[in-house]
Amino acid sequence: MFAKLLITGGCGFIGTNFVRHVRRSRPHTHVVNVDVLSYSGNADNLADLRDDPRYTFVHADICDAERMRALMTGVHAVVHLAAESHVDRSILDTRPFIRTNVLGTQTLLDAAVAARVRRFVHVSTDEVYGSLSLDRPELRFHEDSPIRPNSPYAASKAASDMLVRAAHHTFGLDACITRCSNNFGPYQFPEKVIPLFVTNLLEGKQVPLYGDGLNVRDWIHVEDHCEAILAVLERGKAGAVYNIGADNERSNLELTRTLLHILGKGDEFIRHVEDRLGHDRRYAIDSSKIARELDWRATRSAWPDALFSTVNWYVKNTDWWRRIKSGAYREFHDKLYENRPVATPVRANA
Ligand code: NAD
Ligand code: DAU
Repeated sequence: MFAKLLITGGCGFIGTNFVRHVRRSRPHTHVVNVDVLSYSGNADNLADLRDDPRYTFVHADICDAERMRALMTGVHAVVHLAAESHVDRSILDTRPFIRTNVLGTQTLLDAAVAARVRRFVHVSTDEVYGSLSLDRPELRFHEDSPIRPNSPYAASKAASDMLVRAAHHTFGLDACITRCSNNFGPYQFPEKVIPLFVTNLLEGKQVPLYGDGLNVRDWIHVEDHCEAILAVLERGKAGAVYNIGADNERSNLELTRTLLHILGKGDEFIRHVEDRLGHDRRYAIDSSKIARELDWRATRSAWPDALFSTVNWYVKNTDWWRRIKSGAYREFHDKLYENRPVATPVRANA
């Protein structure tokens, strides 16, 4: 347990859940949440912690070297989540991804080394490993798989992983890297497939399914991811990489049909649209290392129950996502989803 923990990106999807998780499970830890409040950061998510004496929110950019150096004073450990996180946005404009994910990570590493922080956990992604084929279901990403990022987002995360590795090797920073699969749960920004599809269906709109819908993602509930990050923070080996997943591969079509079923809608709500450029076909995570070494296993991702309770959260929290969908996000949303060309119909089996 660390007395003072600096979390970056704590107002985003995973950050919000992680800050809450730490406040609940480590009541003596003082959490400092550093977030610039980009389009996907929402300070309201944690408004109820405002008067908590062991929680401090700092509105700052991780690329601001002076601020990061000052903030790092007295900090025992860092969990770095802040990022540009959406693949489709990285295809429209890569530059913000290089700025925050690469330069921002290096800025934090410099500050952490200077302040002699005792542990630095870098939250990365399985997307750095690239894509697996549907024809070889036995293959999964393990920690030694080659780094073969395909999207600009994944490339920027891979670059940040290499910088963390270098800071450990060259400057002796006690750092770990986590690579998790696709998360789902409360507070996810409605540009990612599950909250986008659920909120569209709640609004009586169709859902834009890319390509043939057979791309596979390996889904984990965000609470399981938070528990795993905490395990790495407290028990991870310096310099190690840990994959995190819940053995839960689903095609996008299967996921979509499950969401339709939960919300009582039919296939006519599916709109087959043009595929994502360079769309990775399949992700699948081998998380046996973290199970073996840190005794962590996913316990909250059971399918479809965990998906059902997530859908329920969006049903109950319409004010949260309606505010987002009616704001500045609207322009991006319309460009990418509402006006996306319809694809030639494909016959796909779940
Ligand atoms: P998100 O987009 O919901 O949240 C990102 C947060 O970072 C926001 O609060 C944003 O305001 C903040 N931020 C962005 N730029 C910043 C900057 N320059 N300075 C300070 N704060 C900044 O993303 P998320 O889905 O919660 O992902 C969090 C992390 O987890 C990312 O590093 C992502 O790569 C990684 N990850 C996500 C998933 C997933 O399925 N969502 C899976 C594996 C790994
Ligand atoms: O694997 C971990 C990664 O998961 C994280 O590193 C990323 O930050 C996170 O955004 C997520 O990336 P994906 O690209 O897999 O997530 P997304 O929700 O954007 O898309 C999931 C799948 O759904 C993908 O195959 C594309 C498809 N999709 C997505 C959208 C937004 C659609 O078919 N239609 C859509 O409108």
